[in-house]
Formats: sequence, C-alpha cells, structure tokens
Amino acid sequence: MTTDKINKLIDIAAEKIYEASHVVALVGAGMSAESGIPTYRGSGGIWTKIGEPDPRSFQNFMNDPKLWWERMLNPDRVNVESPERAKFTKALAEAKPNPGHFALVELEKIGKLDTIITQNVDGLHRIAGNNNVAEIHGNRNYYRCLDCSSRFLRDEFMIIDIPPKCPNCQGMIKGDGVMFGEPIPSDVLARCITAAQNCDAMLVLGTSGTVYPAASFPTEAYMNGAYIVEINPERTPISDVVTTQIAGATGDILPLLVAKIQDGIIISYLFGTKYYGV
Ligand code: APR
Repeated sequence: MTTDKINKLIDIAAEKIYEASHVVALVGAGMSAESGIPTYRGSGGIWTKIGEPDPRSFQNFMNDPKLWWERMLNPDRVNVESPERAKFTKALAEAKPNPGHFALVELEKIGKLDTIITQNVDGLHRIAGNNNVAEIHGNRNYYRCLDCSSRFLRDEFMIIDIPPKCPNCQGMIKGDGVMFGEPIPSDVLARCITAAQNCDAMLVLGTSGTVYPAASFPTEAYMNGAYIVEINPERTPISDVVTTQIAGATGDILPLLVAKIQDGIIISYLFGTKYYGV
C-alpha cells in the first residue's frame, strides 16, 4: 500500500472518528508486537511455533489446582518450559508500551476513546496510561477469584496455602489470564458486549479475528451501523466487514491517525469549521 494511499485512508478514518460519539478499540496481539511480544498466529507466532495450549487447560486446572500452583510457583519454571515458551514469558515480563499504546492514551484524553477491549494479557494499555480498559482475556499481572471475581495484583498477593484461597470469600484463586476452555469472566464480558453494541465507531487493531467472542464484536458493531477501521499489515476475516482497512503496523499508523484527529479538534475549535476536506 503506498504512502499516499495510507495517508488518504488515515484522513478518512480521522474524520469518521472525529465525528463519532462512542469510539471503541478492539485490540489483539499485533498491538504489542512492536513491544517485542510475539503474536500467537502467523509467522513468528508462539502458537505457530509450539502449537496451541490444551483446550482442556481450564478443566485440568480445576481437576488439580494444587499441581497448577506448584508448577506456577516453581522458581525453576522458566527452565522446564519449552525454550520458545520461556522466550515468550520473558518478552511478556520485559515489554514496555510502544507508540501505538501511547496514541490510544492520547485518544482517550481527547475524549475520542470510550473503551479499549483488549485480548492481550500484557497489561500494556494500563501501564501506558489508559483508564477504560476491558481485558477480555485477563491480565497476567493479576490473580482472580473464580467465585467472587475479586482481582489481586500478583506482586501484592500473599500466598500462604497452596492452592491459595480468596481473602474476600475463601473461593478458588487462579491467574487472571483466561485459560483455554475457561469461560470469559461474566463481569468483563458484559462490559465488552455493552461497549461493542453502543459504539458508533470501532478501531480493530492487530487481531487475526479468529477467537470468539472478541472476533464477533466488529461484525456486531458493523450491523449496528458503526464505522469500522482495521489496522493490520495483513487482511483478516474481519477485513470483509470493515469500512476502512489500513495495511500497516499499529505503532506506525495510530500516532498519525491520532495526530490528525487532534488537528481536527484544534482547527474546528479555532475556526469553527468542519476540519476535514477529504
Ligand atoms: N500492527 C498491527 N497488526 C499486527 C502487527 C503490527 N505491528 N504485527 C502483527 N499484526 C497482526 C497479524 O497480522 C495478526 O493478524 O496481528 C494479528 C495477531 O493475530 P493473533 O496472533 O491471532 O493474535 P490475536 O488476534 O490477539 O489472538 C486472539 O487468541 O490464543 C488466543 O488468548 C490468545 O488473545 C489471544 C487470542
């Protein structure tokens, strides 16, 4: 895609986001690729290399939570994992937000981003400074109670028994990251569904659009008449229902898009005119 074409598409997307009243971002692993975290699928993806986890992961946990916790707390854990998995765990632990994350912080600050629905467990949107983040697959920096949905920062949680019990309700505690085979926690799922149903513009950022229910949100928003812009170097199953598909990296495109929207707000404030001449 040429630079001119990309710039034209950015202008179109900027105008639509500028004019929208309720903007939602649906984020996937591609957003964190420029923070050094491998994606899951496609070339270089961690699942591409080592295969997807067991679809019964959650059932296995429920059958023997003590074993899961003993493995999780094993200080030698990284060495017993596959080298690829160990590299992935290390990349997650060391990652920092990239320009794409900071662009979404700016978008939230100017009132043009109601909610980020992220499939990523890296917590980078919160670290970058976004406040309205729905982590549909959880956040690796937290533990979660399966009974009362309380969440606890790992670094602040005192583990006395194995498996630990929830300090609030004595329920079962596990990592907040949603395991394969685990239902999406009902509180965060309700928040995501409401945001997707009520938006009039959606940014679809760095997701292969293959894992549900997250992958259903763009189609749902599109059916409700929302404007959808996808930023991804590759086409995905979602590309068929988006209004604007920008073939690029989120770390490159999002800062340009947000700058255009900020210009629009300034110019319309100074001159009271409709900014976009596209
Ligand atoms: N900018 C934008 N998109 C990118 C970039 C980038 N710099 N680099 C890669 N991509 C795109 C890829 O083209 C791909 O379409 O990001 C997408 C990543 O797809 P996946 O690896 O499948 O990640 P995701 O869609 O988030 O997976 C969803 O699957 O296994 C589960 O829990 C896991 O949350 C994850 C879910």
